[in-house]
Amino acid sequence: MGKDVIVACDFASAKETFDFLDKFTGRKPFVKIGMELFYAEGPAIVKEIKKRGHKIFLDLKLHDIPNTVKKAMKVLSNLDVDITNLHAGGTVRMMEAALEGLTREDGTRPLLIAVTQLTSTDQESMESDLLIKEPIDKVVMHYAANAAKAGLDGVVCSPLEAQKVHNTCGKSFLTVTPGVRFADGDIGDQKRVMTPAEAKKIGSDYIVVGRPITAAADPVAAYERCVNEFVD
Ligand code: C5P
Repeated sequence: MGKDVIVACDFASAKETFDFLDKFTGRKPFVKIGMELFYAEGPAIVKEIKKRGHKIFLDLKLHDIPNTVKKAMKVLSNLDVDITNLHAGGTVRMMEAALEGLTREDGTRPLLIAVTQLTSTDQESMESDLLIKEPIDKVVMHYAANAAKAGLDGVVCSPLEAQKVHNTCGKSFLTVTPGVRFADGDIGDQKRVMTPAEAKKIGSDYIVVGRPITAAADPVAAYERCVNEFVD
């Protein structure tokens, strides 16, 4: 898979999701399904979106004991998604178990990427709540290196970290980056943002874009603008 724009379908129901996706005639955007939609609609929503011909990033961020994550990943492997994820904080052993569970009998599997530190976690909360006293960028790189060591395919990270992750973990280690905004757009609750063009320049492999597309007056035009800036 090459560079692509992944649209975060942060909707509460299948109806809202399909009303949105039906606007795209001729185009089949790469879709991210998160916890809200998955918990509301269950595996059926994944199968239905796949049947319509979209690639899917199933963003459920698993984090539990290795055996439980392995078994959950085995179930997810039947959904035929293209990318799924977990928390690197679950340890290298948990990530290795996840990979085992995700790998089908014929050796194929979806791509598996890790969340390092959530972008909602800052230095202060990491130190006070998690008792991690190292600088946050060092922690992010350490978790990314752990994900690579476990055999994962990449990480979810801020576009500002993409270059450093590639330098540490290799060019082919995927960087999937949310926090993308148009130069003339509203940044909302995201703090450290980049435009699609900047994310391309810095080497992101996939950008995850939600509200700049889903809340746009013309979502298809906003999607095309992202693709033009990031992919073409
Ligand atoms: O609407 P917006 O473009 O901010 O959506 C970004 C998407 O990426 C959301 O689905 C959000 O949950 C997700 N995300 C994020 N930051 C992370 C991980 C995921 O914004 N570190």
